[in-house]
Amino acid sequence: MIAKVVIDKKREGHALGSAEIREFIEGFTRGEIPDYQMSALAMAICCRGMTERETADLTETMKNSGTCLSWEIPTADKHSTGGVGDKLSLVIQPLAAACGVSVPSLTGRGLGLTGGTADKLETIPGYSCAQTLERFQEIVKTVGVSLSVQTDDITPADKKLYALRDVTGTVASIPLIVASILSKKLAEGAHTLVFDVKCGKGAFMKTREDATGLANALVAGAKAAGRKAAALVTDMDAPLGYAVGNANEVQEALDILKCVSSLESRVLAVTDLCVEFAALMVSLEKEIKLDEARQMCREKLEKGLALGKFEEMVTAHGGDLERFERFMAKPTFKFRIQAMKSGYVTAIDAEKVARAAFMLGAGHAQAGDRIDPRAGVTLAVKVGDRVAVGAPLATLEKSTEPDGLDAAAAELYKAFQVSPTAPEAKPLILERIS
Ligand code: URA
Repeated sequence: MIAKVVIDKKREGHALGSAEIREFIEGFTRGEIPDYQMSALAMAICCRGMTERETADLTETMKNSGTCLSWEIPTADKHSTGGVGDKLSLVIQPLAAACGVSVPSLTGRGLGLTGGTADKLETIPGYSCAQTLERFQEIVKTVGVSLSVQTDDITPADKKLYALRDVTGTVASIPLIVASILSKKLAEGAHTLVFDVKCGKGAFMKTREDATGLANALVAGAKAAGRKAAALVTDMDAPLGYAVGNANEVQEALDILKCVSSLESRVLAVTDLCVEFAALMVSLEKEIKLDEARQMCREKLEKGLALGKFEEMVTAHGGDLERFERFMAKPTFKFRIQAMKSGYVTAIDAEKVARAAFMLGAGHAQAGDRIDPRAGVTLAVKVGDRVAVGAPLATLEKSTEPDGLDAAAAELYKAFQVSPTAPEAKPLILERIS
């Protein structure tokens, strides 16, 4: 295989052969094909696309570039394309485990505006997402669920290629995104994969067409690889729930897991979405009706069994929830923004809320940057609420010095739209793909 010939072929819009894809990616992973040729091929794929077969070949090659796990117990995982206030994995994964479906979940650290599940979990004192693959497998087998970070042994080809795509304008390509996401999820080995493809202002996929296209491609790719799969396209115009940050999101997830009655109505829509995802995982993996799985999930949640799984997982990862409670009780710097006019909250722009949280120190600008675990935004209202002049809209928070609160508050204020007429209610689930 001559790298330039493969690049020329794709640039001219032809489909690549399975061997060409495999040899190119393997050569790049070994360091024999230089970054500039890989970047050129990635750009050609961005412009010309790939067929389903080519995407499947790329996925398979990237999956096989590292260790692939396999399980003899019922297993499922949920992958989200990333959203603002997306703490769903903290509830869904333990909930599925409470229903008897084990969840090997390799998750990510946030980069840029949207936070990563690993960063959120590691605000629990002692919790380490960095486990060896042996320990990860042991936790899944004994506890039923592990939320860890991807190790270097899993899909090294994706790690190397993603770093290149990130700096060469080649992230926005459905076949490259599908191969990247799916190769990692297939390498985890779960028999069932459920995808949460977020759509809207705070999502990677801004339009419904793109989100649906990605969801269909992920489900088709997972099925082609022999897994059971489904996807929900979900709304990400406004943040999920009330907390956007890290420790405050863990607290909100704990409130959902504890079914805290005074808060239940505030996070009801998020709770319902968690139940829906966990039920999809359980119904596909156990091959039972979705309604039956929903009922099972709700019962396990209400009986505190999902909370129990979460607590066991935290302990297995070295975390201490009592220390987390003490940490959350410590004073922080807070600043509240208020409504300047009365009316209905018609929009809360998720991207602007995420930017405000990021300005406070809730995210990493570059891999390895430290985050402020207490930095974030807690909304006081949701879309559709009626507010009077002076009513609180949100609180900004930081654990260290109060610098930067004003600029972040100005950004956050721009996220809110208050109008005289009530907005139409919008569902969180926009589309189901199975
Ligand atoms: N997330 C991934 O893991 N890969 C992509 O290419 C895009 C989003």
